[in-house]
Amino acid sequence: MTRWYAERKRDYYYKEAKKHGYRARSAFKLLQIHRRYNILKKNGIVIDLGASPGGWSQVASKFASKVIAVDLQPMQPIENVIFIQGDITEDSTIEKIKEHVEEADAVISDASPNISGNYTLDQARSIWICQHALKIAKEFLREGGNFVCKVFEGEDYPEFLKDVKRCFRMVKSHAPQASRKKSSEIYVVAKGYTKIF
Ligand SMILES: C[S@@+](CC[C@H](N)C(=O)[O-])C[C@H]1O[C@@H](n2cnc3c(N)ncnc32)[C@H](O)[C@@H]1O
Repeated sequence: MTRWYAERKRDYYYKEAKKHGYRARSAFKLLQIHRRYNILKKNGIVIDLGASPGGWSQVASKFASKVIAVDLQPMQPIENVIFIQGDITEDSTIEKIKEHVEEADAVISDASPNISGNYTLDQARSIWICQHALKIAKEFLREGGNFVCKVFEGEDYPEFLKDVKRCFRMVKSHAPQASRKKSSEIYVVAKGYTKIF
């Protein structure tokens, strides 16, 4: 993909986000993932990790009866969305989620670390966040629930994918159209959670 084309695409999704009232272009990534894999159940409960500024929560709240959104950064309110400001790698954040829900139908994570420019480091940080997103999925998902997680591809990715495959019926790696082609981000889409004891 040429730089010109990548910029046109960025610009296209930026304008579309404005037109549809989404706070972030990333809203289209979740919409595209949902259209393809049917992740968000009507009237279900969704936990959205790394939620700020709120594009994914806006999309999720159109389907779900309740969305719990978590981020290190603050987030402007959205109807039907309970916001928790916290770090998803900390147990205290899990306890705060428990104050609002016992179980969820989907756990979705678009959380990503601050980019340092050192790819090895950034990829390791991304995997660390993903491992905690998976931990939260295992803690809250009902049998049959779904999990979506953004991950930077690299050395530790295959091992993470294996961990996800251990507890879901169907697991795919997916790059939505709205992701930039050059980007190394990929979304793990996992359906049909099965509790393993
Ligand atoms: C790409 S943005 C998410 C965009 C969001 N999905 C949307 O549609 O508006 C990534 C977010 O992950 C959050 N994040 C990174 N590490 C986190 C952590 N350990 N706990 C909670 N949030 C985290 C960042 O603060 C940032 O807001």
